[in-house]
Amino acid sequence: MQGVQQLMKVFVTRRIPHEGMRVLTESGLCKVSLWDSDEPIPRADLLQRVSGVHGILCLLSDRIDTEVINAAGPNLKVISTLSVGFDHLATDEIKKRGIRVGYTPDVLTDATAELTVALLLATARRIPEGVEEVKNGGWSSWKPLWLCGYGLSGSTVGVIGLGRIGLAIARRLKPFGVKRLLYSGRTPKSQAVEVGAEFVSLDQLVSESDFIVVSCALTPETQGLCNKAFFSKMKKTAIFVNTSRGAVVNQEDLYEALSSGQIAAAGLDVTTPEPLPTDHPLLKLKNCVILPHIGSATYSTRGIMAELSANNLLAGLTGTAMPSELTL
Ligand code: NDP
Ligand code: DGY
Repeated sequence: MQGVQQLMKVFVTRRIPHEGMRVLTESGLCKVSLWDSDEPIPRADLLQRVSGVHGILCLLSDRIDTEVINAAGPNLKVISTLSVGFDHLATDEIKKRGIRVGYTPDVLTDATAELTVALLLATARRIPEGVEEVKNGGWSSWKPLWLCGYGLSGSTVGVIGLGRIGLAIARRLKPFGVKRLLYSGRTPKSQAVEVGAEFVSLDQLVSESDFIVVSCALTPETQGLCNKAFFSKMKKTAIFVNTSRGAVVNQEDLYEALSSGQIAAAGLDVTTPEPLPTDHPLLKLKNCVILPHIGSATYSTRGIMAELSANNLLAGLTGTAMPSELTL
């Protein structure tokens, strides 16, 4: 009994795949408290449940700010997020307090890149619209001018943020016969050579691309990057796809661009807020395909993410090297 009292306390903010829970429970290192639900923990419960913990395993939908860190108190050594994105963490404050952060890069790159390609094709070839027409009786005949979209062959694709996922998307799109691959970001990337991508200014990328894919991190610099000025520079026939974070896009400006015919179509896996209210204007547009943030959602990927985040947490508790530590 005495041993149990000495175990470090961790709080897991949601039900996670069993692979992750197994790592934690079998470690014998910590006493796990779980928000045993598939739905998010209310803020008040989060503040209460983190009190006195040594480690928090959280999700991208949990805002881990100064209030949460204060509520946890001085024991807190590690925050492990079940995501590669970390815009939900108050990194400056976390760093100031010497708390370590684990995250899940690489293991979700393939799943997210695959989903991005699926979303791009679904949007460009109007697949959800077609499925709907079959169901609602709109399919009267094979019609030469009906449900035409845009193909990748011979096209120019622009990737905003050629990081792990951006590169994996580029690799997958090239074999579709893409003629030019452009990318923009803070600095040119050596890995661009592999896919023959050209580093260009954002303006050039926006005005020359037939398909624009956003795969950068959400930062103060990228927040609202895709706005009225951005959409007004796009080709009228171009397709916009975002699988990074919703806040990179100004959704009012996107609505305007889509509804006025300024751009052809958009595919979004991420929105602001999440979930998007069911009466949101973007959902009324046929040329906007919206998914519920499922980029990394394969059984295997989510299991590996859970395992990695659990191992990151344990390493943070024991003061050893994490499999994937975020450099703050
Ligand atoms: P990386 O860090 O490998 O890539 C992010 C890229 O964004 C880097 O190349 C970075 O360039 C670039 N970037 C930073 N600032 C800018 C800018 N101002 N303009 C253009 N590019 C910029 O991360 P990942 O590829 O692993 O993940 C990217 C993002 O994808 C995550 O942060 C997350 O938000 C999102 N994501 C979404 C998923 C989903 O389910 N839809 C699943 C997984 C991730 P530099 O190195 O020069 O800073
Ligand atoms: C992430 O990891 O940042 C994604 O958004 C979900 O997998």
